[in-house]
Amino acid sequence: MSSDRVGDIRSVLEFYEAMGIDRIPVTLVEAKSSARAPQRQRQDAADAALTTDEKRERLAALREEIGDCARCKLSERRTKIVYGDGDPGARIMFIGEGPGKEEDLQGLPFVGDAGMLLTRLIEKMGLGRSDVYIANIVKCRPPLNRDPEDDEIATCRGFVERQASIIRPEVIVTLGRIALQTLLDNPKLRITAARGKFYDYKGIPLMPTFHPAYLLRNPGDKWKTWADAQKVMERIGMK
Ligand code: URA
Ligand code: URA
Repeated sequence: MSSDRVGDIRSVLEFYEAMGIDRIPVTLVEAKSSARAPQRQRQDAADAALTTDEKRERLAALREEIGDCARCKLSERRTKIVYGDGDPGARIMFIGEGPGKEEDLQGLPFVGDAGMLLTRLIEKMGLGRSDVYIANIVKCRPPLNRDPEDDEIATCRGFVERQASIIRPEVIVTLGRIALQTLLDNPKLRITAARGKFYDYKGIPLMPTFHPAYLLRNPGDKWKTWADAQKVMERIGMK
């Protein structure tokens, strides 16, 4: 291609960027047909073409829809709903399990000890928390940080799935067993066997890794999560 032509294309892209459009919905290769309902595919396709501002609006509308939620028993003892936080146009979305004590008080994901480790990982990747999006499978704290129960996950999972479909990040990183098993609908998956490999979540590459709370207890495994993060960076051309 002539350098004039390349310059033209660059100018058009810079114009789009200046207008706040940071995604151009181009499909080069037809996606493999999937068994998903046509309705869902249409919604995903519509979400895929959203601008960051539209994503922000839809995330806010979804938050409104959740309201002062009492759909499951976790609502009885929570302080704040922890919806999710970060850039609606994020290229990477981290999904944890559920809020802990500090998150329940602040209404923000991963702001306690485990959150500090996650923040350090994100920074080591050359990003800040405000560049990524962080959410959880359940949005209210399970008492004493017990695992969320099946009925609680079943009630809440639709919300994080809709957040993921609005954001449509280039990669989803699941933190720990619950997020992995829930998003991939497979209770048999084990984190130690699954981590470090990409899976498919509705057309989005999903990288499972350890939960930062696990890494606080098992610091010898931190390098494995760093290796997983490097695969993510490689996948989206960050390194
Ligand atoms: N652990 C999680 O899974 N999520 C949080 O937000 C905090 C700790
Ligand atoms: N078990 C979990 O639930 N999560 C981890 O990250 C590691 C072991």
